[in-house]
This record gives sequence, C-alpha cells and structure tokens, in this order.
Amino acid sequence: MQFQKRTVSCGELRPANAGSVVTLNGWVNARRDYGGVIFIDLRDRYGITQVVVDTSHSPALASAIDPVRSEYVLWVKGTIRLRENPNPRIPTGLIEVLADDIGVINAAEVTPFEIVDDLATNEELRLQHRYLDLRRPALQKNFLIRNKLYQITHRFFEQEGFLEVETPVLTKSTPEGARDFLVPSRMNKGRFYALPQSPQLFKQLLMVSGFDKYMQIVKCFRDEDLRADRQPEFTQIDVEMSFVTQEDILSLTERFISTAWKQILDVDVPAPFPRMSFHEALSRFGSDKPDIRYGLELTNVSEIAGTSSFGIFSSAVAEGDVVMALNAKSCGSFSRKQIDELTEHAKKYGAKGLPWLKMVDGEISGSFVKQLEGDQAASLCAELGAESGDLLLFFPGSWERACTIGGAMRSEIARRCGILDGLAGTYSFHWVVEFPLLEYSEEESRWIARHHPFTAPMNEDLHLLSSDPTHARAVAHDLVINGYEAAGGSVRIHTNPVQQRMFDLLGFSREDAELKFGFLLNALRYGAPPHGGIAFGFDRLVMLLAQTENIRDVIAFPKTTSGLSLMDGCPSGVDDAQLAEVGIRRAVSEQ
Ligand code: AMO
Repeated sequence: MQFQKRTVSCGELRPANAGSVVTLNGWVNARRDYGGVIFIDLRDRYGITQVVVDTSHSPALASAIDPVRSEYVLWVKGTIRLRENPNPRIPTGLIEVLADDIGVINAAEVTPFEIVDDLATNEELRLQHRYLDLRRPALQKNFLIRNKLYQITHRFFEQEGFLEVETPVLTKSTPEGARDFLVPSRMNKGRFYALPQSPQLFKQLLMVSGFDKYMQIVKCFRDEDLRADRQPEFTQIDVEMSFVTQEDILSLTERFISTAWKQILDVDVPAPFPRMSFHEALSRFGSDKPDIRYGLELTNVSEIAGTSSFGIFSSAVAEGDVVMALNAKSCGSFSRKQIDELTEHAKKYGAKGLPWLKMVDGEISGSFVKQLEGDQAASLCAELGAESGDLLLFFPGSWERACTIGGAMRSEIARRCGILDGLAGTYSFHWVVEFPLLEYSEEESRWIARHHPFTAPMNEDLHLLSSDPTHARAVAHDLVINGYEAAGGSVRIHTNPVQQRMFDLLGFSREDAELKFGFLLNALRYGAPPHGGIAFGFDRLVMLLAQTENIRDVIAFPKTTSGLSLMDGCPSGVDDAQLAEVGIRRAVSEQ
C-alpha cells in the first residue's frame, strides 16, 4: 500500500512549528468523535500528537477516517496549529495537526488488551502478545535506558583501555554452579556442548594470553529456578584485568557506576562506596545483599535468651546456636492473623516457628511470655530498645540460618509497612567483601565454592585451607544496589598448585580435575599473570535505573518464571528425525 512518508515524528512538534505543513506516520492511540470533528491521538515511539479531522467539509476525509480505530497505522498530512485546550501532560500538548489528507497504511484487529500504561491486564496475555505490550510507552522507556547503558558501557571501557573480545557460546559443560543448558552435537554424537553460565574461564585464559584488560557485553545461560530478578538467559558486562589488586577492580567499578548513574539519571553517586564484610552484612541485616536504605537491623540477643527460662532459646544457645531478634517498630498493632502470616513466611526460610513479644501501653505480651520469669521479658525488650507499640520477633537457630530468617523478616516488615514505597527513586551502593571461600553442601557431603572454584583465598587465610576451611575468606566482592546483587567478582587463583589444591578441597580426584579443567590447569603452568575481575548483571542495572522490580520489564522477549516463552511457545517439542540426527532417542513421552 502506498503511503506518504513522515516528515516529522509524533513527539517533536512545538508551538514554534505552528503554520508548517507536516506529514506524520503512526498508530492510533485513541479516537474521539465530536459530530463532524474527530480527534485522533497518533503515537510512535517518540510521542503522541493530536490530529484533528474536520469531516464536515470533506467527504474524502470522512470516508478515509471512517473505519479507523485504535492501533490502525495512518499517514496524516496537515497543518500545525495551536490548541484551544492545551494538554500540559504531554510535550506536544500545546499544538495539534489539522488534517488535510489522511490514509490508512494498515488496519488492526481489536487488540487483546488496550495499549495503555496503567494496565490491569494479566501478564500472561501481555507476554503472549509481547510485540503489542512493547508498544506501551512505559516499556519503551526502559529500552531507551537499556540502549543508553550499552552505549555508556562501550564508551567507558574503551576510554579505560579495555578490549572487547567475544567468547564462545558452545562451550564445555563444567559441573560447578547452576545447571547447564545442554546442546547435543550432530557431528559428535553422544557429546554435548553447554551454553556458558558466564565466560569465566575464557576471560581468565585471555589474561594468560596477555590481553590485559578485557570486557564483553555477553549473554549467559543458567538453568536455575527463576525469580523476579532472574532469567534463564541474561546479559552481563563481563570484565577481567591483569596485574591488579582487588582495590583496582572496586575503583574501576565505582567509576563505571557513577558514570552510568550520572549520564542516565543525572544522579551524583559518591565514591568510594562503603564496604562491609559478609559477616557484618549477615549479622546486621540478615542478608549478603541487604538493602541498607532503611534500618530495622538485627540484634544478637543470645546472651539474655540463653539464660532465659524459655526452653527453645536456652537449649539453642546451649547447643552453640544463637537467637537473633528484630524490633519491628510500630508493628505492635499487628493482628494474630498478620503474625500467623509472618510465621508462615519465616517457615519458608527454614524457621520452625516465630516467637514474638509485643509491647502495648507498657504491657508485654507474646507467644512465650508465660514461659519467661522475673525480668526476662523486660530485659529482652530493653536489649531491643522496645517502646510501646513495637513488635519483637525472634529467630533461634544456627548463626547463618537465624540471620537469614531475620533478614527475610526484615524485608517483609519493610514491605508491609510501606517503607520500600517511601524509598522509590533513592539509591544506595555498597560492597560486600570477605565472603567465605567455601560452604559445606550436606546434599553432596563436600565443600563447594561459594563464588566459583577459581576465586583466590585471602592470603592471611591460606593456612586455614587445611585446618579450618569454614573460616577461610575469599578475595571476592559483590556490588549491592538497593538490596540487589548488581555485580560480583573476585581476584583469581593464578598458579597451578593453588588451583590444584582448591580442586582437591572441593573433592575432585586428580583425574576428574584434569578431565574437567585440564585446559585451565595447563594454562596456569605457562606464566599466568595475577588477575581478577567482575561481572555486572546488565539487566539488573537497567531494572534499577528504570525503577522496576520485574526483570521482564527490561528484556524485550523474556521467559516466564517457569522458563517459557509464551509468545512463540518455546521450549517446544522436536520430531524424532531431528533427535535421531543428533543421536538422541526419546525416553519419556511428551506432556
Ligand atoms: P555471578 O554468578 O555473581 O558471577 O554473576 C554476575 C552477575 O550477573 C547477574 N546474574 C543474573 N542476572 C539475571 N538473571 C540471572 N539468572 C542471573 N545470574 C546472575 C547478577 C550477578 O551479580 N563469572 C562470575 C563473575 C566474576 O567472577 O567475574 C559470575 O558470573 O547481577
């Protein structure tokens, strides 16, 4: 169909343009009929312009406009004039275009949902028709931010002397970390590639090659349980540097984040960012990625709880466990039902129950108050600085478990009390460092690396590797923004003997380590420089910059939390011939 090409976009006309003749192309956002005069709001990604079609003197215009409804694609030629009733809410709200000529470029069926920003439609329907959902200006705005961040990232790292190098997408499956997505090989039947969970080993090998400063904006793939801030395929800004210390990595990151926040939001981010150890983060906030924009800090009340007559507390402390507690300020008015809901929430994190006390009008009541003697209740209240109207929650258990439950309750209280709503548009940036190098997996009865097996132990803790691995700390760093882990990295092991020792600790036999990581162990024999780096969650940075809590809002074609793409229906079945070609036979029938 012929159409007249636009001379301007729908977002750029202002009163100074009055009198000019222009042509617009766009989608019908809304149509309002007032007798012989029809108003059309025409939309493209730059904005909305009001078009006035006066059909009373022109039968041609009347018949052209007759079938037009929302989401039709039109060309409109007309004259710009000032509006009698300006709309101050949109940048083009002072003008309108009086149509001289108009044509339908393409018709549109009635869309399954309205293309508006304050949308109540369920997300499933929107994901099925993602190409329509993406017409909404609120979503398009996120992709403008995403695009800016690509540009800023490339510019920043180029100016800092980094080289962008592409690493493979068909890689070797390595059994640490999350589950791999596997790709069968047709030419080598029975063998599989894995999609990279990150380019970790390749970037380390590039350091061995002497590339010195590497970066890449890269897709990563992880077959893990999904959440609001996790997708099975996501994007990282991956960074590695040679001959550096942890300080160099942290300061480069701070410069990059300050540049991005300044250029995108015009927000000044003061650097250096505060740092806290993993131990401090967990003890004070119950999380290794705490949102420190609000208080509600945890208190260790083991000393008082241990001597109390409440058996759950005293036996926990006697067994070497702790009792952590949280003063939920002004939540004393919570009903039994609300406290039951909190208890159910705590159980999701491994709590057996949720002991609580309340102080109302100076009176202390609560789930275990009858089992306390003398001034025990008053001492607990005093330790937590309780005042009338406060609710006190207690978390007995092993230190890490008790802190984690406390952290989950801290976030839940902040959410329920509207503290988070009040913080919209504010940012806090901080580092969490000195992570434990290892954690013990009861499931696998072995140590596993907390970050990854290539992370260096702190020099002063090297001796603990054989005597007390639990307490060995890693030269690792996570950047936390508003409670999100926005980036993570470490200084790496760069010598063969230490890497070999690490694999020993993780329970790999020498043969196994050779089979899985022989190429890395070999590379470390040929003069590997000391190196380290970091990877930013690109999607998470965009989420934070765009102020959305849903990672799907910043990914053009995302998956649901069950890993489905509702639009094209993937993952989908394949036929037996395709499977045979890659040497696979079906063992289970398709659902
Ligand atoms: P890590 O596993 O911490 O480190 O990942 C780095 C950052 O990537 C983001 N991220 C995710 N974003 C969305 N969906 C996911 N499923 C997802 N998983 C991770 C997070 C995280 O901080 N190779 C190391 C980095 C290094 O050591 O240099 C790595 O991948 O924001």
